[in-house]
Amino acid sequence: MKYGISPSTLKNKTLVNPIAMKHYFYILIIAPFLGCQKFSSSNDVSMRNEVSSKVQLDKLITRAEKDIAIIPFDSTTIPRTLDANGQLIGKPSKSWTSGFYPGLLWQLYGYSKNEKLKQSAIQWSAVVEKEKMDGGTHDLGFKIYCPFGNAYKITQNDKYKDVCLTAAKTLSTRYNPTVGAIRSWDHHKHLWDYPVIIDNMMNLEMLFEATIVSRDSSFYNIAEQHAQTTLENHFRADNSSYHVVSYNPETGEVEKKNTHQGHSHESAWSRGQAWGLYGFATTYRYTKNSKFLDQAVKIANYIFSHPNLPKDLIPYWDYNAPNIPDEPRDVSAAAVTASGLYELSIHDSKNAKKYINWANTILENLNSEKYQCESAPFFLKHSVGSIPGEFEVDAPIIYADYYYVEALIRQSKVQG
Ligand code: GLY
Repeated sequence: MKYGISPSTLKNKTLVNPIAMKHYFYILIIAPFLGCQKFSSSNDVSMRNEVSSKVQLDKLITRAEKDIAIIPFDSTTIPRTLDANGQLIGKPSKSWTSGFYPGLLWQLYGYSKNEKLKQSAIQWSAVVEKEKMDGGTHDLGFKIYCPFGNAYKITQNDKYKDVCLTAAKTLSTRYNPTVGAIRSWDHHKHLWDYPVIIDNMMNLEMLFEATIVSRDSSFYNIAEQHAQTTLENHFRADNSSYHVVSYNPETGEVEKKNTHQGHSHESAWSRGQAWGLYGFATTYRYTKNSKFLDQAVKIANYIFSHPNLPKDLIPYWDYNAPNIPDEPRDVSAAAVTASGLYELSIHDSKNAKKYINWANTILENLNSEKYQCESAPFFLKHSVGSIPGEFEVDAPIIYADYYYVEALIRQSKVQG
């Protein structure tokens, strides 16, 4: 087995062998992290990736070091976007985006070992930590796993592992076994009884990792069932995904298939497709269940065969936006997609070259002047938060930067 333990061992059992735990931590936490770096591609491609991502990451590290001196530390406003006048907008730790800035700093520290970036990452992460107890949201993966999951992978400090474990326990309280899914939102109760959004696939990694470190299989089982339920109900015949599927919490019946941030209920919201691709590829990493891999492949093929995908592979905010080509792009969707494609390339090795080429093209374009942002602390412009909500339209947004950096680091590890 790639991870030294079969997925079925993680499933349906509570594993409590403390003596073996240290060994398992190495096999299950460090080894996959290193294993992630094995991509199959030609040596030429590998060399080019290494050089271009190294150049770009070095640039971003220099930028980030400069930016942390400019951006005042304020525990009530964590960088999220810029307003129309170019002023920084921060959000409190409760916001779903609060983990991205510290998570981004951790990633850059992990790559560079730059001590200033580490100190800043620690400072901003501390602001977010209390969110591990907030059971009123499903966004615990974004908020807690992005900073503390990276912190743990990089430092192996158990205190970060414990933060993730607490957040996983909190997230598990939102699981309803009748529905077979984690409830996403508590808001919009007048519209949806039990909304589950495709974005929620991004929270599963923290649950899978929680089983690995705790030997408690309940996290794994919840994550796997959530993915299974999403697979059954979120996808259309063409493999595009609905944004919101709402269930009857008493019977588990599907009540509505809607959008919240997309153009229409039947359209394909770009970031939603990206969350699905990334989420199913990652779920396959832990479960080795081929239906999850198949779904990730189908989503990738949907995206990259779409007639409305521009030549530079940076999508419009919705694949069915009504005024294409006069519609805003969503760079965040492109960044999440690129990172998800590198993950996918590990698992579907037959088609790895194709996925890597798509991801490389996305990154090459994001690295260009057209998409690079000069305003601290953002690296990329032209993302979209929500067009129906009328916020963050054609703006730099911190989660685009987080997944861009993750994708560049993954690209730098592509090996022949
Ligand atoms: N998870 C919220 C978003 O993607 O905008």
